[in-house]
Amino acid sequence: MRYFWMITLFVTVTVVSILGIRGQHSIKPPLMVFPDMDEQPKYKAQSGAGFENWADGRVARPVPAGALGRAVDSVQAFDPAYQQQEAHVTTGKNPDGTWVARIPIPVTHALMALGQEKYTINCKVCHDAVGSGNGITGKFGMVGMANYHSDRLRLMADGEIYNTIVHGKGQMLAYGDKLSVEERWAVVLYLRALQKARMGTLEEVPQQERSQLQG
Ligand code: HEC
Repeated sequence: MRYFWMITLFVTVTVVSILGIRGQHSIKPPLMVFPDMDEQPKYKAQSGAGFENWADGRVARPVPAGALGRAVDSVQAFDPAYQQQEAHVTTGKNPDGTWVARIPIPVTHALMALGQEKYTINCKVCHDAVGSGNGITGKFGMVGMANYHSDRLRLMADGEIYNTIVHGKGQMLAYGDKLSVEERWAVVLYLRALQKARMGTLEEVPQQERSQLQG
């Protein structure tokens, strides 16, 4: 009998807390032990709940005139610089659907320098400074970064590499919204330089500099 009331109390509390008190409606927020930011000062989308600063009272604001989407296609559609380029330059594809074999813009030292800069900013974290795919992100769990020094990537057309930069591939995100047409080809050029740095033969080094290497 001593435990009767304790057991009754325990059962009552358990049943009520599992089933709750049904049938009563309340507009007050429930008692929350862990609020988890459920209650926030904010305006709900489509609510039109009079945001005092705008005359029309709408919460969702119209897109400002001239704003561009960040998607690659919308940038290409609206940017005059893109439209002046020929299609194979912006897409890396010939009219017959094959890949552009060689970089279709003038190859200069300036383009190489630009490529090095953009590669270092955008690609090095994964593909590392020499392009063997051992970037710092590997230490944080990223796997499968391509090694540029495989035969497949050495023989790949410039246009296909360009396309990978624009649209990404597999795990790799797209860089078309971060790099202009010129910057993308510049990165392709720098990537080729990284590949060349490993494939080069002594015969390709100017005569007067060979002794330096051999020494
Ligand atoms: C966040 C990591 C990451 C970054 C940054 C990154 N890549 Fe990659 N990249 C990958 C991964 C992962 C793959 C392998 C994709 C696959 O085959 O699924 C890859 C594959 C590639 C390939 C080979 C594609 C093929 O056809 O197999 C090329 C070329 C390439 N990346 C170039 C670049 C260039 C250029 C940049 C900078 C503009 C860049 N990547 C930035 C992760 C990255």
